[in-house]
Amino acid sequence: MRTEEARPVRLEDYRPPDWLVETVELDVSLDPTATRVRATLALKPNGNGAAPAPLVLDGDALTLAALTLDGAPLPSEQYVATPGRLTIAQPPQRPFRLTIETVVDPSANTQLSGLYRSGAIYCTQCEAEGFRRITYFPDRPDVMAVYTTRIEAEKDAAPVLLANGNLVDSGDVPGTSRHFAVWHDPFPKPSYLFALVGGTLACVEDRFRTMSGRDVTLRIYVERGKEARCAHAMDSLKRAMRWDETVFGREYDLDIFMIVAVSDFNMGAMENKGLNIFNDKYVLASPETATDVDFDRIEAIIAHEYFHNWTGNRITCRDWFQLCLKEGLTVFRDQEFSADERSRAVERIGDVRGLRAHQFVEDAGPLAHPVRPRLYHEINNFYTATVYEKGAEVVRMIKTLLGPESFRKGMDLYFARHDGQAATIEQFVQCFADVSGRDLGQFMLWYSQAGTPEIVATGNYDARGRTYRLDVAQTVPATPGQPSKEPMVIPLAIGLVGRDGRDLPLELADGRAIERGVLALTKPAESFVFRDVGEPPVPSLNRGFSAPIKLVANISADDLRFLAARDSDAFNRWQAVQTLATRLLLDNTAALRAGRQARKDAGLIDALGAVLADGALEPAFMALMLTLPGEADIAREIGRDVDPDAIFAARAALRSAVGEALAGPLFDHYRRLSESAPYSPDAASAGRRALRNACLDLLAATRRADAVALAARQYRSADNMTDRMAALSTLSFIDAPERSAALDDFYARYADDPLIVDKWFSLQAAIPEPATLDRVKALTAHSAFSFSNPNRVRALIHAFALSNQKEFNRADGAGYDFVVDTVLALDPKNPQVAARLLSSLKSWRVLEPARRALAEKALQRVAAASSLSPDTADIVQRALAK
Ligand code: PHE
Ligand code: ZN
Repeated sequence: MRTEEARPVRLEDYRPPDWLVETVELDVSLDPTATRVRATLALKPNGNGAAPAPLVLDGDALTLAALTLDGAPLPSEQYVATPGRLTIAQPPQRPFRLTIETVVDPSANTQLSGLYRSGAIYCTQCEAEGFRRITYFPDRPDVMAVYTTRIEAEKDAAPVLLANGNLVDSGDVPGTSRHFAVWHDPFPKPSYLFALVGGTLACVEDRFRTMSGRDVTLRIYVERGKEARCAHAMDSLKRAMRWDETVFGREYDLDIFMIVAVSDFNMGAMENKGLNIFNDKYVLASPETATDVDFDRIEAIIAHEYFHNWTGNRITCRDWFQLCLKEGLTVFRDQEFSADERSRAVERIGDVRGLRAHQFVEDAGPLAHPVRPRLYHEINNFYTATVYEKGAEVVRMIKTLLGPESFRKGMDLYFARHDGQAATIEQFVQCFADVSGRDLGQFMLWYSQAGTPEIVATGNYDARGRTYRLDVAQTVPATPGQPSKEPMVIPLAIGLVGRDGRDLPLELADGRAIERGVLALTKPAESFVFRDVGEPPVPSLNRGFSAPIKLVANISADDLRFLAARDSDAFNRWQAVQTLATRLLLDNTAALRAGRQARKDAGLIDALGAVLADGALEPAFMALMLTLPGEADIAREIGRDVDPDAIFAARAALRSAVGEALAGPLFDHYRRLSESAPYSPDAASAGRRALRNACLDLLAATRRADAVALAARQYRSADNMTDRMAALSTLSFIDAPERSAALDDFYARYADDPLIVDKWFSLQAAIPEPATLDRVKALTAHSAFSFSNPNRVRALIHAFALSNQKEFNRADGAGYDFVVDTVLALDPKNPQVAARLLSSLKSWRVLEPARRALAEKALQRVAAASSLSPDTADIVQRALAK
């Protein structure tokens, strides 16, 4: 484990590096327990640095085997080597070559950071600070070097040897059973983008001709026997490459692009230059093994990592505070890609649901932090929904404020101006200021102020004056370390909808222009008066979710139903239904807690009935309209004194009432959609499956026997994983013999496939019944489960904490204790996974007092443990901070 020291890192302490590295020559001799790494660094003093400077290189759990300077061994009194640092106090103040030899044990590396083994495969993960676990190095992103990597290994143990860049040499090592490969990456890069892979891997190959006519070899490496499951990933990659050329003018730059899928990986995937390494969950897919949602995620993540080649690799981050410079921007790009490839409205609704479920919750709790944090103890804990998803919203708001043409010009300028550099957020935003002539000073608050802005909007129609006045007030709640906030720039896209469903013209009485229907709010409170409004309009606010805010508006239930049926903005049609349902669920949760009856709301059911009757809607959109807010959504809206049992009861009752009242049209749609052609993975077919399965789920929520039988039949007869999983998921909520039969059958069918068994773990963890905790505990002893594989831990334990609000938040606190026990057991092995799991307790303060006390006690048990990793210590300290 990393040597422990409290080391807050602060943005304002940034200093340019004293030493630069021009080239790195790595010579890696792979061995299961003693891999020898010889690194030769061409160092030179940085003109900008403080001279004469000592040379201080980062390390993590390293042992130095040899050290030479310009070819001569360095006398031991001239340097100090500890596991965490190599210091040469008085290096020559001129360029020199330092050769460092270290020996590392990849088999003992359970943290999955640095050089490790996934099964028999050797692979690396260097972001954020893993390279220092391979060799001593100035392991910071503003030190960019040209790498040449020679890898040597036993031929039969590692027939495939890969690293960044282009292959320049390979062959046998004479007189031995070993062979080697030499890779050269001509593009200077930070150490976090270094990667190498060695092992027995099968490969699928394709080609791509770039817009300037260069041919690029594309290869996806997977475990033998899995080649057939790479087709979707390869297809996604080619579409992403073409899209980046068309939409952003970005062309790929090496002769080869490789993806390697491994089964032990802490995150989703990693954008190493020319050699992306993926969690195999986000590569492997076939109709029989992956759901439509899996296909969708794979496409998005393949695109995301590919897009990093320009936003992250060619232009990287000056320091880790700028993480959103690459992540927020690249999430924005992958979301736009998915929107163009599929349905824009469906993509947007999905993205906003994710943002609210993860980022809004983070922003409202003790782990809240700005999109660009100012301070961190452990950077691994800042790969968050705020940096990624809110970071993407901030980029989207720049586009909304500037318009698409100006936005593209700004991006072009960014690529032209900063190619090859390690850049900052200021430099990025400056490009948009330069091309548009706008002052984006106040806009920068989106990067520095945490918390979700709350907007209260009140509209009033004046029939006599034919005007409509919209009063808006904004506040940003206090967050850790930020008690008071400044007003932000909020791009609020709006429409005033007339009785016929058409937008009325938007003209401000004071003559100010409204560009593209967007009001730019800048003040704590302001009013907008629209003239020549001939009828009382229904306001449609924050269209397309133009700003990541909480909006409170005085819109009646009748007007919401009107918007649900008629708004020209598809996002707000969906939002109107969500708002109706949320209002009802909040009332009913409160009623049930107070021992009163839940109220029936014909209005919501009418709105949903109208959705089912609207033949013009695309099925994927209809499916989203029918999906009621989740328990976590309701808890988030309640915000304090949360009782998960009451929320569950209110939601279950509503689902059952909807299924009962709309049984006729739900059955009709189910049958209509069952007649469709054989399986096809395209978006339109996936949408039809989504709608059919949404209908089934609402019908089964009534527990009626015909619906349960239908789900059981669909489970048995499904010819694809989407329909099989959907049926099993529906059944898993019903304590009936059909459930255990289907669960047993599912395991028997797919026992050999870990990624599918993960689905089986997750489903069982989500069952909202008191027996689930014991079931989950028992499953940790299942032969298919392993605490050392992150996917298994996420599928079973993390899924329990995230998707089973009721049982995780058991009134006896046993859910918290179980998660905390797991965190403590996992922490010495894999701190990153342990810390992430612990953050599932981050919303403890919103719970009702009894659960809050139990959750706090569980957290305190973590805080009191001896020798926590920096990762877990950081999370628990922030979670408990007063
Ligand atoms: N940079 C990766 C991505 O977002 C995520 C990642 C971070 C992976 C740290 C591994 C370690 O594409
Ligand atoms: Zn990324």
